[in-house]
Amino acid sequence: MVNSQLTKLAKEIIGIIQEQPQKRIRFYDFMKMALYEKELGYYTKDRTKIGKEADFYTSSSVGPVFGYTIANNFVELLPYTTNDNKFSILEIGGGNGRFARDVLDGLRDEHQKIYNNLTYYMLETSPYHEKIQKAMLGDHLDRVKWINDLEILSGFNGLIFSNELVDAFPVYKVRQQNGELKEVYVTWDEKESEFKEIIDEISDHRLKKYFDDMGITLKEGQTTEVNLDAVDWIKSVGKILNRGYVLTIDYGYPAEELYASHRHEGTLMCYYKHTANDNPYQNIGDQDITTHVNFTALINYGSEVGLETIWFTHQSNFLLNNGILNYLREVGISNGRDIFNDEDLKLNRAIRQLITPGEMGETFKVLLQQKNVGNHQYRFLMDIWKQYGL
Ligand SMILES: C[S@@+](CC[C@H](N)C(=O)[O-])C[C@H]1O[C@@H](n2cnc3c(N)ncnc32)[C@H](O)[C@@H]1O
Repeated sequence: MVNSQLTKLAKEIIGIIQEQPQKRIRFYDFMKMALYEKELGYYTKDRTKIGKEADFYTSSSVGPVFGYTIANNFVELLPYTTNDNKFSILEIGGGNGRFARDVLDGLRDEHQKIYNNLTYYMLETSPYHEKIQKAMLGDHLDRVKWINDLEILSGFNGLIFSNELVDAFPVYKVRQQNGELKEVYVTWDEKESEFKEIIDEISDHRLKKYFDDMGITLKEGQTTEVNLDAVDWIKSVGKILNRGYVLTIDYGYPAEELYASHRHEGTLMCYYKHTANDNPYQNIGDQDITTHVNFTALINYGSEVGLETIWFTHQSNFLLNNGILNYLREVGISNGRDIFNDEDLKLNRAIRQLITPGEMGETFKVLLQQKNVGNHQYRFLMDIWKQYGL
């Protein structure tokens, strides 16, 4: 790669590699800089990332029906989090703020009692995203508070929500080699003008413990990722939560599926202008880098801090059980309608995209954990067929 093709951030990372005694950094540090370097990181810099004109879609960019449906779930859960009718939601990594806007619109229009007594907290690492969230949430600014540290909410009573947050954490890259767990480091090959990977001893004993805890041994030659930041995150979330729920939506699998031997190269993917690739060493700072979430880790390490799993399911089940089909519009024969701009057709298309197995319905999973709320018969856990009177 000629030097002029390297992004400014790539050159900065090369500089950091060259300053190291062993002329290498961990893959974790590489990915952290690529996504979150103070000014040039993918998430940090001023650049639209989510939506048609950008790199990828998330469920909230498909349409407001995602937020409206989840608001139905919040309405059912929030009363169990408090005795004084003061309600709190914390959204972590809210991106462009569309989800928060759709939830708050839905609550204001359909559930005024909750809306009027609600504080909606946002915790967002990217100053760029925080800025656009403030613009997006203009109608609800008296309900929303931005915080910059989870600890501020220590003793929190309420609901903690995230969508596609955990997949955006930097990960450690590991490989099973000669019967041992090794780690992947990144170096810069001056002669070939390219980033190269080096395999060496693990830098953190927690990597080995992570697999030991799950009783998983990788297959010889298997390369994969470990999201230790997700472990720290669920532990911090569980610790600050006094009474309430943690609702986490993301793409991923239980550990035995995520680390199955047929997934020989892991799940790391990059997104640039709606095209996927598996090369994190190109478009550095201009492309998203993600990995699938290990939900077993969120469940097991969550239980160490008092989070009890009540539901782990596909997104389609969760949305169906929270009434997404009630938003379907009667369109009859759509002859003569403008299929791209007709609002009813757009809404129905969004519902299909969110619940169809081949689209977002099964790729995305929903994990619901609770702490100190007691036992309840949740309406959304009822058999879907009963809910629709069938
Ligand atoms: C893939 S985007 C998802 C955005 C949004 N939830 C959606 O569904 O459209 C991930 C978001 O999480 C933010 N983020 C990453 N790590 C974070 C952390 N530790 N705390 C808070 N926000 C974080 C990123 O800046 C980005 O806004």
